[in-house]
Amino acid sequence: MPSICCYPVLSTCRLNFSQTSVNRWAGGAVLEFAALHVPAGPGERGAMYFDVIIMGAGAAGMMCAAQAGRRGRRVLLIDHAEKLAERIRISGGGRCNFTNRTVSADHYLSQNPHFCRSALARFTPNDFIALLEKRRISYHEREQGQLFCDDSAEDIIAMLRDACDEAGVQWAMPCAVQGIEARSAGSARGAFAVDSTQGRFSAESLVVATGGLAIPKIGATPFGYRLAEQFGLPVVPPRPALVPLALAPELLEPLKPMAGTTLDASARFADAAFRENVLMTHRGLSGPAILQISSYWQMQEYGSGKKRPLEIDLLPGIDAAAWLDAHRQGRSHLPNVLAEYLPRRFAHEWCALYGGDKALSRPIGELGRRDLEQIARQLNAWSLMPAGTLGFAKAEVTLGGVSTAALSSKTMAARDVPGLYFIGEVVDVTGWLGGYNFQWAWSSGWVAGQFA
Ligand code: FDA
Repeated sequence: MPSICCYPVLSTCRLNFSQTSVNRWAGGAVLEFAALHVPAGPGERGAMYFDVIIMGAGAAGMMCAAQAGRRGRRVLLIDHAEKLAERIRISGGGRCNFTNRTVSADHYLSQNPHFCRSALARFTPNDFIALLEKRRISYHEREQGQLFCDDSAEDIIAMLRDACDEAGVQWAMPCAVQGIEARSAGSARGAFAVDSTQGRFSAESLVVATGGLAIPKIGATPFGYRLAEQFGLPVVPPRPALVPLALAPELLEPLKPMAGTTLDASARFADAAFRENVLMTHRGLSGPAILQISSYWQMQEYGSGKKRPLEIDLLPGIDAAAWLDAHRQGRSHLPNVLAEYLPRRFAHEWCALYGGDKALSRPIGELGRRDLEQIARQLNAWSLMPAGTLGFAKAEVTLGGVSTAALSSKTMAARDVPGLYFIGEVVDVTGWLGGYNFQWAWSSGWVAGQFA
C-alpha cells in the first residue's frame, strides 16, 4: 500500500472554479484562460495528471514552469491570485529592478550563505539579460549595477507568461489549494495529489514557489512554510527584511523634528555597512541604507544573545574628530559646519540633542575638548537601538524560510522527500536591495526547472 499523508486546507480563495477561469491581468484587461487541457497520463480516476505541479505563478514559479515545459514535462501552474505576478508588476516603481550586474553569494543572507552559489552560477544575470534582449525588452543600468526595464515591469511578466505558454504550461488561476496528499515515491498515480477549487490534480513532482510573507495584501501566504513543516522539513522562522525600522517613543520623540530629512550616511551593523540614503521618518528610520542594514539587524533574531543597536556614520569617509578640530580656530558654530554635509534642519536638531544649548550658541572653538570628542564619536558612530521593524506590511522581502539544510543546492529538491522542490523567496535565501532577490528567483526557478 502506498503511504498517504493528508494536509489540511492551506489557502482560501474567494472565486470558485469553472472550467474556463476568468482572470484579471494588468491594466484591468480581462483575459480568458482556455479550459484546462487534461493530459493523458497514469493518474488516478477523477484526477488530472501532470508531470509537474508548480504552486505559485510568481517570478520563480513561471521561470521553473517554462523550463520544465521546454523539457517536454506536462506542467500545471497554480496560483490563488486574480492578477498574475503582482509582485513583479509593482517592483522597482513599476520598472522592475530585475537583476544586478554584480551578483554573487556575498549579496545574500542565509543560515548557509554558500547554498545559493550553485544556482546563481548556473543561471546568471547575463542569462536573464539574454532573454530580455531576445525579446527586445529595453533596459537601463542605474547606480551599483542595478538593471531596470526602460518601459514597464509588464514586459517581463508578458515575457515569462509567453515562455510558459510556448512550453505548453497549463494554468489554474485563480485557484485555491485545499489539501495535498503525498504518496510513496514511484506511485503509479503520481507522488502528489492536490485538491483545489479547480478539482483534483496529481503529479510526480511538486514545486513550491509561493514566495515569502512581505505585503500580505497582494497575496503573500505562509503556504510554503506550512507545507515544508508538514513534510518534516525545518523552517528558519520568517522575519521581515529590507524593512523600515521603528524607534521606541522615548527615542523617537526628540528625533521627530528631523522627520523628512534625508542624509547621505553609512548604516552599520556587525560586519555589514551600507553607504546610501538614510531617511528620518515619523516612525523611525528608512531609506535604502536602513532597508539594507535591517536584514542584518534582523539576523540577530536567530541568535540567543542580547539585541545590539545599529550605528549610523553621519560623515562617512571623514574623521569627525580631526575635522572638528580643524574648525576650532574659526568662529563657526557647529550646526553651520555640519550643514556642509548634512541637511541644515537635521544638523540644527542633532546639535541641540547631542551638544545642547552650548553647541547652538557658541562657536566651536569655545566648546570644551571633551565635549567635541564626544560629539565627534557620535557623528561617526551614531548609535540607535531600533524597537523593531514596521513588519511584513512594509517589508520588501522575508528573511528565513525553508531551511537550505533540507534542500539540494544542485536541484532545489528536498533531500528526504522525492519529487518535492522549493524555489524563490520561500527558501532561506534573502538578497540585498538592488535586483538580487529577483535574480535568486530566476536562478533557483531555472535550476528546479531542469530536474522537476
Ligand atoms: P512571488 O511572491 O513573486 O510569487 C509567489 C506567488 O505565489 C504569488 O503569485 C502568490 O500569489 C502565490 N501564492 C502565495 N501563496 C499561495 C497559495 N497559498 N496558493 C496559491 N498561490 C499562492 N526584488 C528585486 O530583486 N528587485 C525589485 O525591484 C524588487 N522590488 C520589490 C518591491 C516590492 C514592493 C516587494 C514587496 C518586493 C520586491 N522585490 C524586489 C522582491 C521580489 O518581488 C521577490 O523576492 C520575488 O518576487 C520572489 O519571487 P517568488 O517567485 O519566490 O515569489
